[in-house]
Amino acid sequence: MLANSSSRVSMRSLKAHAVRRSVKGARSSPRVAAAATTPSGADSKTGIKMMRKGVKEAADENILTPRFYTTDFEEMEELFGGEWNSQLNKEEMEAVLKEFQQDYNQRHFVRNDTFRAAADKIEGPARKIFVEFLERSCTAEFSGFLLYKELGRRLKKINPVVAEVFTLMSRDEARHAGFLNKALSDFDLALDLGFLTKNRKYTFFKPKFIFYATYLSEKIGYWRYISIYRHLQRNPDCQLYPMFEYFENWCQDESRHGDFFSALLKAQPQFLNTWESKLWCRFFCLSVYVTMYLNDHQRSAFYESVGLQTTEFNQHVIVETNKTTARIFPAVLDVENPEFFERCDKMVELNKQLSAIGASDAPDFVKSLQKLPILAGFASHLLALFFMAPVEAGSLDMESTTPAASASF
Ligand SMILES: [Fe+2]
Ligand SMILES: [Fe+2]
Repeated sequence: MLANSSSRVSMRSLKAHAVRRSVKGARSSPRVAAAATTPSGADSKTGIKMMRKGVKEAADENILTPRFYTTDFEEMEELFGGEWNSQLNKEEMEAVLKEFQQDYNQRHFVRNDTFRAAADKIEGPARKIFVEFLERSCTAEFSGFLLYKELGRRLKKINPVVAEVFTLMSRDEARHAGFLNKALSDFDLALDLGFLTKNRKYTFFKPKFIFYATYLSEKIGYWRYISIYRHLQRNPDCQLYPMFEYFENWCQDESRHGDFFSALLKAQPQFLNTWESKLWCRFFCLSVYVTMYLNDHQRSAFYESVGLQTTEFNQHVIVETNKTTARIFPAVLDVENPEFFERCDKMVELNKQLSAIGASDAPDFVKSLQKLPILAGFASHLLALFFMAPVEAGSLDMESTTPAASASF
């Protein structure tokens, strides 16, 4: 057992990794035991490549890996300082801020001795897929931290209430990312978040697209966490690692974050009631749902290791996220039309073919030629899904997004 294994993950601890934007944080972390490595520098238990002792090399980036986002901060300043500011419901914003200030999960992310012992029991291939899951989740949470922190900083003088909400959301994401990085240390690994901050590519989205994308990622995050939590409550034998027990309160953070974006979108009807906005909303729903579906099916072994059926789990999360999203987006996809998941399943097969080509020994130009018809197949499925008759939605009502999950989750 490590000396401080019951420490609480706080924003301060994360700052040690990230805010200083140096590589010192993870290097000096007392939490990461020196992992045994092979002569090539890989972790001896999982074969995972190491950047240096105890610090995992970040996974290669591709179209499906969690991204870091950036936006036009000047346009954000103009939005929140001008027209948008006057359209925001002041009382509602202050109520939202009060709720974030309550900090319901301040004492939630407290680790205990069971973490390390549980991690030690996860061996063989399951160990590697656990580490991959933790890394992807940590990167996604950390991405939210960086974006919200910067928005909180940039909007401080222009709109102090909104700025503080962003800062408090970055507090939550810092806790989530820090908790996941500490979980990695149970596997004798950690991510160098400072290094990632400086070296990872950032995807640029205009402000209104940031609102669509972050709303969706918060709500889909909520449904993922609560669905895993409820499944494991019903199947305690599958609870391989105690982190999942924290998901019930954790997912409420994500839901609150999504509700804040919902309130922001409501203040800008032109983001919700034009024909362009309907197309953009469908586009973001499609990209978020398909990315998760392909990603998770590439990692079925993880979901199966905790007793979940990957396809059933994904379809449940997408259907529920879509229902939640229909309360605010003016149009969503008809995910309950059987054609939707039929095409998703076909893309899973195409993705397997792409992976097989990527892993083959063929010369690069041959691989590129082999990939062409597969990519064309992807494009045709995506276009067909995009142009499927949508579900007209968007009551603009703010509703609680924590209804009881359906019977299977
Ligand atoms: Fe989070
Ligand atoms: Fe969040």
